Amino acid sequence: MLLEVRDLHVEFRTRDGVAKAVNGVNYGVDAGETLAVLGESGSGKSVTAQAVMGILDMPPGKITGGEILFQGKDLLKLKEEERRKVRGAEMAMIFQDALSSLNPVLSVGDQLGEMFTVHRGMSRKDARTKAIELMDRVRIPAAKERVRQFPHQFSGGMRQRIMIAMALALEPALIIADEPTTALDVTVQAQVMDLLAELQRELRMGLILITHDLGVVADVADRIAVMYAGRIVEQAPVHDIYKAPAHPYTKGLLESIPRLDQKGQELYAIKGLPPNLMNIPPGCAFNPRCPMAQDVCRTDVPPLHEVDDQRVSACHFWRECLNG
Ligand SMILES: Nc1ncnc2c1ncn2[C@@H]1O[C@H](COP(=O)(O)OP(=O)(O)OP(=O)(O)O)[C@@H](O)[C@H]1O
Ligand SMILES: [Mg+2]
Repeated sequence: MLLEVRDLHVEFRTRDGVAKAVNGVNYGVDAGETLAVLGESGSGKSVTAQAVMGILDMPPGKITGGEILFQGKDLLKLKEEERRKVRGAEMAMIFQDALSSLNPVLSVGDQLGEMFTVHRGMSRKDARTKAIELMDRVRIPAAKERVRQFPHQFSGGMRQRIMIAMALALEPALIIADEPTTALDVTVQAQVMDLLAELQRELRMGLILITHDLGVVADVADRIAVMYAGRIVEQAPVHDIYKAPAHPYTKGLLESIPRLDQKGQELYAIKGLPPNLMNIPPGCAFNPRCPMAQDVCRTDVPPLHEVDDQRVSACHFWRECLNG
């Protein structure tokens, strides 16, 4: 595995109490593979990603347990300086909002070029050539002219392409994309997503794709990890999950997709709300909302059961769920 997160725990200590945002996450991604991370708002998708990247807000955040193995090394044991090197060259993150991630007073060419002058010791002239190459690569038209422009002079979709270019600049082994297309128009979303997926395949990078869009997941992911209240509740190859979920929460998510062939039918949405992370219910955190919950679900935290060698589910009743 390129990246393996093992039993990761993250808390936020705030004035109101301790929010248990990540409660034993296990997931991994291989080179050349795309892992989609799904789950409702507040389930810990971004916090887990920030811990992997080493950009968690600490304090109030604190990693209270676990390992983050990247190319075999535990990142949590590295000194900050070594960590910074990994973050610069080996892994990169793409965020939802390019406008707030890019520097507004530097031209796009200078920002892209900096990756090469700072990290690779290139001359400004060579770095400029590289910047134009990258802009071509993410298919920004007229790269030679536009390299002098500033972020606000680009459309949302083009800005997102610039972020992808920044992330790809040093050819990292791992990219984490946290809802990279959420802020874009639907048509532009698909273009940007296709581009990202294509470059990921071409460069054989590992990609962790955090998204709410199950349509995107079906198109580009190899495996899915479903998060609930800071845990992985199911992880499996995409096709298996779409065929038959092994967790009632995954089932609820899938049934929330509008289907063109069932027009007029009411959209199933999972009833209730995600738990308060300062007061997660005992047993399975999903039990108050689960249509399959039994007494054991209200008392015993379900372990990650091995459904098969490719798949895990944190449900006491995964068999019933698979067959239902
Ligand atoms: N800086 C912070 N300070 C305090 N609590 C935080 C902070 N960042 C995150 N949290 C807590 O961690 C929880 C998980 O947040 P996270 O951003 O990982 O959710 P998410 O799954 O990415 O949701 P979304 O889909 O809305 O992006 C939040 O609900 C919040 O309680
Ligand atoms: Mg998030």
